[in-house]
Amino acid sequence: MSGHGTPIPMTSHPCGPLTGTAEVPGDKSISHRSLILGAMAVGETRISGLLEGEDVLDTAKAMRAFGAEVTDHGGGEWSVHGVGVGGFAEPDQVIDCGNSGTGVRLIMGAMATSPITATFTGDASLNKRPMARVTDPLVLFGTQSVGRNGGRLPMTIVGAADPIPVRYEVPVPSAQVKSAVLLAGLNAPGKTVVIEKEATRDHSERMLAGFGAEITVEDTDEGRVITLTGRPELKPQVIAVPRDPSSAAFPVCAALITPGSDVLVPGIGLNPTRAGLFTTLREMGADLTYENEREEGGEPVADLRAKYSPNMKGISVPPERAASMIDEYPVLSVVAANATGTMIMGGVKELRVKESDRIDAMARGLRANGVTVDEGDDWWSVEGLGIGGVPGGGICESFLDHRIAMSFMVMGMGAKKAVSVDDGGPIATSFPIFEPLMTGLGAKLLRDNRPV
Ligand code: S3P
Repeated sequence: MSGHGTPIPMTSHPCGPLTGTAEVPGDKSISHRSLILGAMAVGETRISGLLEGEDVLDTAKAMRAFGAEVTDHGGGEWSVHGVGVGGFAEPDQVIDCGNSGTGVRLIMGAMATSPITATFTGDASLNKRPMARVTDPLVLFGTQSVGRNGGRLPMTIVGAADPIPVRYEVPVPSAQVKSAVLLAGLNAPGKTVVIEKEATRDHSERMLAGFGAEITVEDTDEGRVITLTGRPELKPQVIAVPRDPSSAAFPVCAALITPGSDVLVPGIGLNPTRAGLFTTLREMGADLTYENEREEGGEPVADLRAKYSPNMKGISVPPERAASMIDEYPVLSVVAANATGTMIMGGVKELRVKESDRIDAMARGLRANGVTVDEGDDWWSVEGLGIGGVPGGGICESFLDHRIAMSFMVMGMGAKKAVSVDDGGPIATSFPIFEPLMTGLGAKLLRDNRPV
């Protein structure tokens, strides 16, 4: 089922070369943060290239509910008139974050140190996901929360009227938790310190500095120590959102496994905390090159060129690389099925608490299409069948998870027989133009049994 109720079955047929330019949408992580920090600045932030997927649109709606003026000027151009740190109004309705863990966790953090109360909910996927990882540190600021058993949504957060700054070591590698604590720290007087043992995506740190907050990052024996001074006046920014490496992963991986392909994916954010997939693919022997490397809006960017790569080999992905490619393991497993040898992916426990249990979801769909998969609590492995060796012909469940649905659509492009998913509706959460973009390159996709 999609978040909107009616499931949208999709099928991907084996196809000929994928060729051309794939202009993937803006980065989801940076888009959420642009809207939230824009809402906490004083004055007008201008954003171009915003991802207009459902997740980010839900965050835009939420920022309006907290009192910011958010305007869609068309063509990915948006503006946010912020209310300043500590200036959020109390929403008069429940905040529905749809499918988005990033949206709900960051917004909970952002409002947690203001004297207001808000109730959050989401779709069936989000309402199963753990929120205690965010409310545990928020309680230290003086915030209160009450949710369903196991710390699930719907959940009410009572912001701290008199917040105190905290020092918090994040127990799981999570940029969402780190960011929630930093956003809460904005309205606590004094210094809030967040320590992460493993580096996770650092967009919040970069953007907080860009908005004029006093923030330092030190690599120490304890880990990455981030210190934020509370109660800054955030200055509005002009933000150009780079294209999303996590979305680029789909046309890139599709090109690698589809005979004769040559696809250019321009303007992709290559922040080192996000680029682990591309390093891994190159180690497997993928013909993947970076062209025109440059810096845009404080983020490293390049054009990616991916060509059909018939001789890739499975490798053991270093567990310490997991955080930099956490959203890309599903589609990587599809490439692994088209490589030779065994692909081993360890240190990936977090995959079990994403929009779905991604190890379980991928293992089921891969097996339904003739691929051998083994799994443990925090690792999984895929037996490669060589390029074009995946039998296909199976129907996979997407479990309300956009990346699961897109990964299986990619698998069909290079398989012997078509691959189907029960519901491609969730793709709209992060990559609303996935179908026209992929068919424009040469993919053969059916939606509700009709060509896209
Ligand atoms: C995100 C962090 C990651 C990632 C998600 C986006 C972010 O989640 O999976 O898609 O923007 O901070 P975790 O923080 O749970 O690892």
